[in-house]
Order: sequence, then structure tokens, then C-alpha cells
Amino acid sequence: MSQGAEGTEQSRSGNGAGTESTPSKSGLELRNLTKIFDGGIIAVEDVNLTVEHGEYLVLLGPSGCGKTTTLRMIGGHEVPTSGDVILDGESLLGLTPDKRPTTTVFQHFALFPHKSVIDNVEFGLKMRGDSKEERRAQAGEILEMVGLRELADRKPSALSGGQQQRVALARVLVTKPKALLLDEPLGDLDRLLQLRMRVELRNLQRQLGLMFIHVTHNQEESLSMADTIVVMNEAVIQQIGDPLTLATKPANELVATFMGDNNVIRGTIESREGDRIVVDDGHVKASCVVQDDDRATGDAASLSVRAASVVLLDDGADAAGDVNSAQCEIVFVEYLGDLIKLHLSAGGERMVAKVPGDNYVRLRGQEGNPVRVTWKEEDVKLLAAS
Ligand SMILES: Nc1ncnc2c1ncn2[C@@H]1O[C@H](COP(=O)(O)OP(=O)(O)OP(=O)(O)O)[C@@H](O)[C@H]1O
Ligand SMILES: [Mg+2]
Repeated sequence: MSQGAEGTEQSRSGNGAGTESTPSKSGLELRNLTKIFDGGIIAVEDVNLTVEHGEYLVLLGPSGCGKTTTLRMIGGHEVPTSGDVILDGESLLGLTPDKRPTTTVFQHFALFPHKSVIDNVEFGLKMRGDSKEERRAQAGEILEMVGLRELADRKPSALSGGQQQRVALARVLVTKPKALLLDEPLGDLDRLLQLRMRVELRNLQRQLGLMFIHVTHNQEESLSMADTIVVMNEAVIQQIGDPLTLATKPANELVATFMGDNNVIRGTIESREGDRIVVDDGHVKASCVVQDDDRATGDAASLSVRAASVVLLDDGADAAGDVNSAQCEIVFVEYLGDLIKLHLSAGGERMVAKVPGDNYVRLRGQEGNPVRVTWKEEDVKLLAAS
């Protein structure tokens, strides 16, 4: 796997290297964090990462890549094989989960059904030994913040799904953790509730100014919620960046593919003139201007073009052989509301294009028909090998 992939912010993150730095005084630092399970399964390998207070960080990656294990090592539910978890300059390794200034929210936001909303929220404070008065005041304040003060005496069964989620969040936030760790918190919800909870979670995090570390395998969720996205694959960090960087400048082929909506042209360099290369994958040719890359004609290279950068040419002229253009078949027209996602085949090579939704009526009858697509050279990016 790539160590410190291109596009990674080396100053704060990545895999490998960086062991010599001093602990950051403020925020969370994962230093050379590794977990190898019995049988030699490497779940997390040499992860280095810093997270600031007030930051919304999303750990994103396919199933089994090590997201939950990373979160569990931060929360104290898993002991690292090596490396350190440092919060505000202090190692957390010797502390059990209940002694750490972190709170973990697992997949389900289960509430106590027989307790009222306010008693549910007070529960964590009660466990901590706070007085009744203090508990009431703090629980009232947090319920106000999530807009549920007037429902304080209801039982969870008398609340909507979204209200129950907010009570569950209030219950963990009332203990004022320094970091909230969320493992697939929206995974079980229906789509509408998921979309609403994305906004609510994000709003609440902003109001409280807390560090949230949210694990998901859903790239759309990560783009819509994160300040910073960390893409993992096979135990290793692939790229760290803000949503715009991840979506528009994937560091390598793996990230480009995983973020979705990227066309990857994987082939050999057909020609190079100065810094301009043309790559041919046997079906599609694309060109781009490269920086700090000395590959020559005949070398392997992968380029990416965002689906939103691909446009349809309506004249139907045969463009086979042209650079930054492809003759395709429309395989499937997917309506997304404001946009249409066109699933295309360029001689068997899968491509995607995103075009305005008002073309839907015209395009939905054209599945199986040929179409010519094009894109601009400046929208083509060279990907590092992954
Ligand atoms: N207790 C364990 N013992 C052995 N192997 C484990 C254990 N827990 C996790 N693993 C393995 O470690 C790897 C990482 O698992 P992890 O649960 O961190 O993945 P994940 O990214 O959270 O995946 P998902 O999206 O499916 O939840 C996987 O290969 C998994 O099978
Ligand atoms: Mg998991």
C-alpha cells in the first residue's frame, strides 16, 4: 500500500513516517497506530492522524478496511498492538473507556423505553454521580439545544424516529465528552431520516464545537458532513482532505474509484510532448498536463475525469480515436432529481456522466442507443498508482 499517498497532508497525517514529531498540545493525535489481531490479521497499519477540537472528521472506506478498529482504539475498546492515542498531549492508552474523555455511539441509538426523555438524558450524569439538581439543569440545557425541552416528560415510544435520535444524542452529549466517536450512526435509518439527521448532527456539532469522529462506508454521507475525510483501504490511510479535494483531486486510483462518479482511464502513455501526456486504455483516450511526473511514452498511467465533467454531444458523429472524447452506448439512465446519472459503455469500458435532470424525458428512451461524449483536458487528472 502507498505510504503517505500523494495529496495527503503530510504535516498532520498519513501512514508511516512522522514518528519523531512532538505530541500536539491540543486535539487528538494517532501516532503509528497499529492493530494486528490473532492470526496475523492486520486491521490497522501504522496510522498517523491529527484531529482538532471542533473538527468533524469522517473515516471512510470499504467494509473491513479498519474503520471500526481505529475508532475502538480511540475509545479504549481495543488495545493497540503498537502506537499511541494522544489527547491534548496525554496518552490515553492506560485508560479504560469510562475513564477516557471520549464517548462512543455504536450503530444503534438505543434508549431506555421505560424512562422519560429527561431521565434518559440524565442517565450518563447519574452514573457519574452528579447531584439531582445539576443533572436536571444540564439535561434541560441540552434538550433545549436539540429542540426537545417540551417533550422532556414523554416516553421514547411517544416520539418520532427523528426525535428519538435527538434524545439519544442529547444523552451522550450531556456528559460533555472531548470527542464523540460515532460508528455508522445513520446506518439503520430510512433515507429521509438519514438526510435529516445529517443536518441535525452537523448543526449540533457546530453549536457544541466538539470533535466528532464519524465512521461510514457511505461516500455521499462523508462529503455532505465532514470538515475532513480520511479514506482508508486495507488498514492503511489512502488520502486525507476536505470534501472538495477528495471529490475533485483523488490522490490515487483507489480513492477515485471509491469516491464514485469518477471515470478512471487506466492504460499506457501513447504520447508525451513536454508535460502533456495522452493515455489510451484501448477504448478511450484522454490527455492531461502533468506536474512533477517523468513517465514517458509506453509507461502505465491512470487518469480520472469526474462524471460531472463529461458532456453529451448531440450530433452523433463518430468520435472513436479522438482524444478526450468517446463513442459510448447508453446502458442505463438513472434519474437523481436535479441531475441524471448516465451509465455508459465505451467498447465495454464502463463510464459515467452526470447531466442536468431536464434531459430525462429525452434520454430515458435512449437506453441502448449510441451517444458521443466529451470532456475538457483541464478536467483530467493524473492519478498516483495505489
Ligand atoms: N476481534 C477481531 N478478531 C479478528 N479480526 C478482526 C476482529 N475485529 C475485526 N477484525 C478484522 O479486522 C479488519 C478490520 O475490521 P473493522 O471492523 O475495523 O472494519 P470496518 O472498516 O469497520 O468494516 P465495516 O465497514 O464492515 O464495519 C477486518 O478484516 C476484520 O475481519
Ligand atoms: Mg465497522
